[in-house]
Amino acid sequence: MPKLKPKSDIGLIGLAVMGQNLALNIADHGFQISVYNRTTETMDSFVAENPNTPGGVLGCKQIKNFVQSLKRPRKIIILVKAGGPTDAVIDTLIPLLDKNDIIIDGGNAKWTDTIRREKDLKAKKLRFVGSGVSGGEEGARFGPALMPGGDPAAYKHLQPIWDAIAAKVDAKTGRPLEGAEPGAPVKGGVPCAAYIGPNGAGHYVKMIHNGIEYGDMQMICEAYDLMQNVLGLTAPEIGKVFARWNKGQLDSFLIEITADILQQSDPITGKPFVEVVLDTAGQKGTGKWTSVNALDMGVPAPTVAEAVFARFLSAVKTERVAAGKILKGPSKRFSGNKTAFIRAIHDALYCSKICSYAQGFQLMREAQNEYNWELNFGQIAQIWRGGCIIRAVFLQKITDAFKRKPKLANLLLDPYFNKTIQKAQSNWRKVVSTATEQGVAIPTFSSALSYYDGYRTARLPQNLLQAQRDYFGAHTYERVDKPRGKFFHIDWPEKDRPQLKV
Ligand code: 6PG
Repeated sequence: MPKLKPKSDIGLIGLAVMGQNLALNIADHGFQISVYNRTTETMDSFVAENPNTPGGVLGCKQIKNFVQSLKRPRKIIILVKAGGPTDAVIDTLIPLLDKNDIIIDGGNAKWTDTIRREKDLKAKKLRFVGSGVSGGEEGARFGPALMPGGDPAAYKHLQPIWDAIAAKVDAKTGRPLEGAEPGAPVKGGVPCAAYIGPNGAGHYVKMIHNGIEYGDMQMICEAYDLMQNVLGLTAPEIGKVFARWNKGQLDSFLIEITADILQQSDPITGKPFVEVVLDTAGQKGTGKWTSVNALDMGVPAPTVAEAVFARFLSAVKTERVAAGKILKGPSKRFSGNKTAFIRAIHDALYCSKICSYAQGFQLMREAQNEYNWELNFGQIAQIWRGGCIIRAVFLQKITDAFKRKPKLANLLLDPYFNKTIQKAQSNWRKVVSTATEQGVAIPTFSSALSYYDGYRTARLPQNLLQAQRDYFGAHTYERVDKPRGKFFHIDWPEKDRPQLKV
C-alpha cells in the first residue's frame, strides 16, 4: 500500500456508483483523495478494494476527520442525490469548514438550486462550484465531460484535477482519445472540461446537455421504430444499420450503443434483447427542467419537449394497450425502395438532430441574458465532444460554426448546417410524410421539421391569432404598416363592419 500524505489533495462525499468511480479516476491521476460516506461499511469496503491507486485513497469514518484530512483551501466534492440530500450535506459541512474552502457539487443539481447555494455559501465566506459531470459510470471512472460553474477563483484550485480526470479529445479532429489500453490514462489532447460561468452556469449547461440527450435518444427510437414497423427489419438488422451509420455523420456514443443493444440477445429467452424490454420510459427530471425552462423563458424548444412527452406517453402502457383496441389508424403498407428509405431515415435523424441542438443553444443564449452569464458556445460544444453521453463527431461542426461566428443567432443559419439541411430535407420530409401516412408516431422528427419550417417562415399565421385575441379579449395587436411596439385595438361590432380606432 502506498504511503499516504498527511493531507489529501481533495475529498469526496457520497460513495454510490458515480462517487466511487470519480474517486478512483482522481486517485488514478496521482491525487490523494479522502472519502466519506454516510454508511461506513460502503466506505470501508471501497478503501479495502482499492489499496494501490497512484494517488491513494484515505477512508474517513467521521465527517470531522474527513474535513481535517484535507489541504487548505479544502476542496470537497459532493456526489449525493440532487435536492434535499445535497443541502443536508452542505449544512453538515458549513460549521466544519474555514474561510475560502470550496464545496463542489458534482450531481445533476437544478441550476437555480446552485445559484441559491452559491449565494448562501458566499455570505458565509465559503466558495461553491456547481459542476456538471457527464458520462455515466464509465465516464466518471475513465474520463467524464466536466462543466464547472461558480466562483472562478475557486475553480482555479480545482482545475488541475478537473483537467487531469476529464476525457480528452484530439485538438484538430475533435475525436475522443484513448489510453494505451482500456482505462489507461490518456496522454495529451484537449480536456473536456472548461469553466462555464458564474453561479449556476455549469449546472445549467449540464441540464441542456441532458435535454439534448433526451432528444437524441427519442430520435434514435423513432428511427428504430420506422425500420421495424414500416420496413419490417429485425432488431439485429437494424443494429447493423446503426453500426454503419456510426461510421459517418452520425458517429456518436448513443448511435454506437444502440447498434450494440439491437444486436444483443436476451440471455434468458434468446430473443433480441430489446424485444423483452418493457416499452415504458423512466426519467429523473432534467429533460423536464429543460422544457419548463424553455416555456418560462419563451424560447421555442419543441423537440426536447416532445422527447419528454414521448417518455410520458410511453409510461401510460395500460391505457395505450386499451386504446389500441379501440382507436384505428391507417392500414397502408410500405411499397417503396427499402435501401432508399433507410437513407431517408438517416437524413431525417441528422436534420432533426441539428434542429434539436439549435434549440438547446438558443436556450443557452437566452439564459445568459437572463442570468448575466457570458457563455462560450464553441467551447461548450468542444467539452461535449468527449466523455459525455451526447459525445459525437457532429459537435465539432458546432464548435466550427461558433468559431466562424461567435454571435451566431441560430445554428441553422451556419453555412454548414444550412447546406446539410438543404441537401437532406427532401428525405426528411419523405420520412415524416410516410410515417404520418402509416400511422407511426414520430414526435421529434416531425416537431423538428415544423421548427425548421416555422423558423424560416417570414410571415406565420399568428396575425390571425392576434386578431382573435383582440376580438375576444381586447388584447390589442401590432400593425404591419406601423412601427413595432405600437398597439392597436378594433371595437369589434356585433355584425357590422369593424371601425378602425387608432
Ligand atoms: C450523463 C447523464 C446522466 C443522467 C442519465 C439519466 O450525462 O451522464 O445525462 O446525468 O442522469 O442519463 O437520466 P434520465 O434518468 O433522466 O434519463
